[in-house]
Amino acid sequence: MFFPLENIESEVVGYRKINSAHSIDETLPTIKCGGILISKPPKHKDTAVLVPNIPDFLALLNAKVNSNIVCLPNGVSNLSQYVLPSLEKYKKLILWLGNETKAWEAARDFARKLGEKRCLIVRPTDAHKLPHLAESQDFKAILSEAQPIWHKSITTFANLRADVYSDLLNIDKVQGVKWKRFPTLNKILKGHRRGELTVITGPTGSGKTTFISEYSLDLAVQGVNTLWGSFEIRNARLAKTMLQQMAGFPLDENLHLFDDLANEFEKLPIYFMTFHGQQAIKVVMEAVEHATYVYDIGHVIIDNVQFMMGMTEEQKHLDRFWRQDAIVQAFRQFATRKNCHVTLVIHPRKEREDEDLTTSSIFGGAKASQEADNVLIIQDRRLTSTKGKKYLQVAKNRYSGDLGVMTLEFNKAALSYQQKTKTKEKKKSDESSTDSSTQDESNVIS
Ligand SMILES: Nc1ncnc2c1ncn2[C@@H]1O[C@H](COP(=O)(O)OP(=O)(O)O)[C@@H](O)[C@H]1O
Ligand SMILES: [Mg+2]
Repeated sequence: MFFPLENIESEVVGYRKINSAHSIDETLPTIKCGGILISKPPKHKDTAVLVPNIPDFLALLNAKVNSNIVCLPNGVSNLSQYVLPSLEKYKKLILWLGNETKAWEAARDFARKLGEKRCLIVRPTDAHKLPHLAESQDFKAILSEAQPIWHKSITTFANLRADVYSDLLNIDKVQGVKWKRFPTLNKILKGHRRGELTVITGPTGSGKTTFISEYSLDLAVQGVNTLWGSFEIRNARLAKTMLQQMAGFPLDENLHLFDDLANEFEKLPIYFMTFHGQQAIKVVMEAVEHATYVYDIGHVIIDNVQFMMGMTEEQKHLDRFWRQDAIVQAFRQFATRKNCHVTLVIHPRKEREDEDLTTSSIFGGAKASQEADNVLIIQDRRLTSTKGKKYLQVAKNRYSGDLGVMTLEFNKAALSYQQKTKTKEKKKSDESSTDSSTQDESNVIS
C-alpha cells in the first residue's frame, strides 16, 4: 500500500510504502522528504497527534480521535528539518512515539526541535504502547493524559513523581542501550546513556580507535544516531574498519561481497565530520551542533582531542593544558545541554610501559577525569607480564559506581574485540586458571 506525503502547500512530495506481509516500511524519496501523512479532523484543528508508523496512524484514524493525526516520515529515527514547516501551524502537538528506549529519546529530541512549550508527550509506560499495539482502545483517554515536556525552572517532587515512577518502572531503558558485542561492558556500565561524557585513553597503538569504532558501530546498528569526528585517520580508513567489523571477515579477500555489505552499511545512522587534523573548537562545535539538530545525533565521537588541538611542539605546555580543558568543557556542556553522549579519545600523559595507567594519566589538567561520567582505559599487560593480557578498564562510572575490567581479545581477521559467548564448561576451566595477576573478564568491583 502506498500513502501520499504532503508538504506545507498540500503538494504530494513523496510516499510511504508498507507491506505488512513482507514487513516493508519505507519512505521515498529518502533524502529531504518534507512530506507528512496527515488526516483532516472535524474539530481541534490546532492540535496534532504525532505517531511514527502507518498502523498507528490508521488505528487513530479508525478511532476517530478529534485531532489531526500526523504520521512522521522517518518514524522515531529522526525528524527531518524539512518536515518542520508543515507542523508550524499547530498550537499543540501530542507526541505518541511508543515505549521503546529509542522512542523515549526521540520524544525529547523532537520536542526540542518543535518547541517544547507546545509539546505534550504520551508517557512511555507499558500501558501506553503505540496505538496499533495498545490493549486499551480508549485512545481519547490516553491522549487526554498526555503531559507537558516543558518544565519551569523550579519544580516540585509532586511534578517529578510521575517521571520518577516511570523511570523505576522502566529501569532497563533508563540504563541505556546495551552493547550486543560487549556483555561485560553492560554488566559494569549498565548501558550507553544519553547526556553523558566518556573519556577513553590508552597508549599509542593500543587499539583505542579500533575499539571505539566497534563500540560505536554496535550502538549505531541498534539505532543510535552517530557522528564521528576522526581527526587522526581519514574517514575512508575508519569506514573500512567499521565495514570490516560489521562483516566479521577480511574484505579484501571477499570483494565480491562488497556491494551487499556496503548497501547494508549505508542504511546505518552514521555520519562523518569531514575535518582532518587541527581544527578550532568553535568550528567543530558548530558542525556538531548543526548535525545534532539535523540528524538527531545521540552519540558524538572525537578521535582524538590531541589531533584536534594540533600537535605543534613549540606550544607551551600550560597553554596546551588550558586549551584541552576548554575543549573538554565545551563537550561536557554540549552533552548535558543536548542530551547527547560524547566520547572523547585522549592520549595519556605518561607512557611508561612498566606501569598501569590511571585516571590521572590522562593528558591535560584534572578536567577530563573530573568532567567525565565514564573513564575507560586500555591497559596492555602483555608488555609487563608473560601471562598478561590487554584489557579495557572502567576506572570511573558515575551512573552506578561499578568499576571493573573487560579482557580485549583481538580478532585480526574481523578487526574485532567482540566477546565470545563461552560454553559453561569452558568458563569453569577459565575461572580455575585465573591467577591474581590476570583478572577475570566478568570482574565487577562495586
Ligand atoms: N589487541 C591487538 N592486537 C594486535 N593488533 C591490534 C590490537 N588492537 C589493535 N590492533 C591493531 O593495531 C593498530 C593500531 O590500533 P589503533 O586502534 O589505531 O590504536 P590507537 O588508536 O590506540 O593508536 C591497528 O592496525 C589495529 O588493527
Ligand atoms: Mg587512534
